[in-house]
Amino acid sequence: MRINLTGPLTGQTQVPGDKSMTHRAVIFSSLAAGRSTIEGALLGEDCMRTVDIFRQLGVTFDRTGTTLTVDSPGFAQFTEPSQVLYTGNSGTTTRLLAGLLSGLPFRTVLSGDASIGRRPMKRVIDPLKEMNAHISGSHDNTRTPLIIEPAALEGIHYVMPVASAQVKSAILLAGLHAETEVTITEKTASRNHTETMLPLYGVALETGETITLPARGIERIRPCDFKVPGDISSAAFLMVAALITPHSAVTIQGVGINKTRDGIIEVIRMMGGDIKVINQTAESEPVATIEVRYTPDLKPVTLDGALIARLIDEIPVIALLMTQAGGISIIRDAEELKVKETNRIDTVVNELNKLGFNLTATADGMEIRPGRRQMKTGVDSHGDHRIGMMLAVATLITGETEIAGLDSINVSFPGFMEQFKQLGVKE
Ligand code: S3P
Repeated sequence: MRINLTGPLTGQTQVPGDKSMTHRAVIFSSLAAGRSTIEGALLGEDCMRTVDIFRQLGVTFDRTGTTLTVDSPGFAQFTEPSQVLYTGNSGTTTRLLAGLLSGLPFRTVLSGDASIGRRPMKRVIDPLKEMNAHISGSHDNTRTPLIIEPAALEGIHYVMPVASAQVKSAILLAGLHAETEVTITEKTASRNHTETMLPLYGVALETGETITLPARGIERIRPCDFKVPGDISSAAFLMVAALITPHSAVTIQGVGINKTRDGIIEVIRMMGGDIKVINQTAESEPVATIEVRYTPDLKPVTLDGALIARLIDEIPVIALLMTQAGGISIIRDAEELKVKETNRIDTVVNELNKLGFNLTATADGMEIRPGRRQMKTGVDSHGDHRIGMMLAVATLITGETEIAGLDSINVSFPGFMEQFKQLGVKE
């Protein structure tokens, strides 16, 4: 598709609901017998995969606007599905449900698209097996499809080898069924929505240095009326677009600013970007209004360590922002980018270089130099929603560009283009 966004971006807007929190709200609501509601749900393709799987298990979903009403018979009445449970492009659906399904009394098979088929599953299969799950994966237990047979699960004391909220949550969801407690220790904190949300659905757990989930938590799960904050990972595209486009001033209301997710705000401040976080309120999680203005003289920065996990999904668009800084920026400790929807070190570097920017891939991240040769060539999202959206934002700098695979945007940000147009961007 030919894209040519031209700014400035001005005015107020809101972004769709948080992807991670919508998945979890769908899962917890489905487990609880009775009616739950999810206000501000993200209705993108990834979250709808989770919804469709619970439909196959016997849960009913009704949709009015962005509110989902969930009527569930409760986990004990789930019905055995007659088909493979298809997870599409969604790592969160695949990994979280691998944990949850391990404790159900019937066989299930989880399988997704070609990208999911390349993503590592050993990281969930190994701890789940330690919990006595009867789970196996193709390619010597490293990939999907995953075949899950009924099993009596036991607790585990697990030290996370990688910072991954999907793995942590898979263990906690299996742990809901376990006969003994689960404890998890993280060297680097990953997003903590499972821990913040479970208590709202009736399941108390201890957090801190170690997470402790008591045995058979699933017995306590109950319905909840949950409100999903706006997704900071979607807001990131608007923030960067405003920062790099002259005369822009954008206000984004209702954005979730959970401490495990707000790394992009810190980076924008480190770079000297004009950003304000105002009107903070506590809903299910902290929410705020974010104001961003065009900033011409951004400073180069180095990102590494624990900060990386707090902005891992924003790195493609942060890399674009760094091309506009007045020196060399470096991203380190970000090997996890290699196992996202695409190898995001390669796709970010290669696609931005095709547009004339100057990035170099490193073993665990990238180096980004300022400046740009004028180049006019097509680019490709490689089916990765965050690469597609980052490239669309890049056209604010590059002008008209052919971007292949832009429909991948629907995975996490349906209405992306409309949102830009609403802020005055011309296409
Ligand atoms: C997610 C966790 C992160 C993130 C993904 C969503 C989640 O992945 O990249 O988009 O909802 O738990 P990891 O678990 O691999 O860190």
